[in-house]
Order: sequence, then C-alpha cells, then structure tokens
Amino acid sequence: MAIEHFMCPRNIGNMVNADGEGTFGDPECGDSLTVFIKAENNIIKEISYLVFGCPGSVATSSMTSVLAKGKTLEEAQKITEEDVIEALGGLPEHKRHCSLLGVQALRKAIDDYNIKSKNININK
Ligand code: FES
Repeated sequence: MAIEHFMCPRNIGNMVNADGEGTFGDPECGDSLTVFIKAENNIIKEISYLVFGCPGSVATSSMTSVLAKGKTLEEAQKITEEDVIEALGGLPEHKRHCSLLGVQALRKAIDDYNIKSKNININK
C-alpha cells in the first residue's frame, strides 16, 4: 500500500486560496511538506500538499490527505502517525518517522484555518 501511494500519490498539488496552510520540516533529514485545506461547515472539503522528501514522506502525506478529507477539523486534528502507518499497512522501522511530516503539517494547516476564521469573525 505504501509503495502504491508513493507511485500514485492522492490529492497532491498546490492550492490557490486555501483556507489554511501548514508547513513542517524534519530538521534531521531536511525533508518538508506544506498542506493546504479548504473547509466548509467545519468539514475538510479539499486538501492538497506539496512535498519535498523521501518516498516515505510522499506515501505518508498521501495517506494523511486521504484520512483527513471529509473529516471534521477536530477529527482531522486527532489523526496520529500511527493511524497513517496503520492505514498504509505498516512501514519499515527506519521509515516510520516520515509519517510525522503529514500529521504535523496537517495540524498546522488546521491551526492556521482556525486563526484565520477567528480573524474574519472578529472583523465582521
Ligand atoms: Fe525525511 Fe523520510 S527521510 S521524511
């Protein structure tokens, strides 16, 4: 499953006018990921990402996007690295840390969305 998501990543790409955006980089290996989301009625309607990293980071970013799409912001915030690894059917021990990128960048994108949507409500 992990190889399939690396060869054919889901939801990959840039997003213009995203409601929330989050970037996370792993200082150990230098790989990084930016996640973009659009939400409606508290549900993640669209998600995409740009990833500059190893095959493990591509596969885990892809699976993170699949797991997050259609979830509420609160549910998506709770997705863990273990959830991603399990959904991929496992990862070799030395590649497990790659799943951190997707999960952390997604959480940052949701935080960014929450900050932006609060600012919009204050300015109304
Ligand atoms: Fe850096 Fe995989 S080796 S995220």
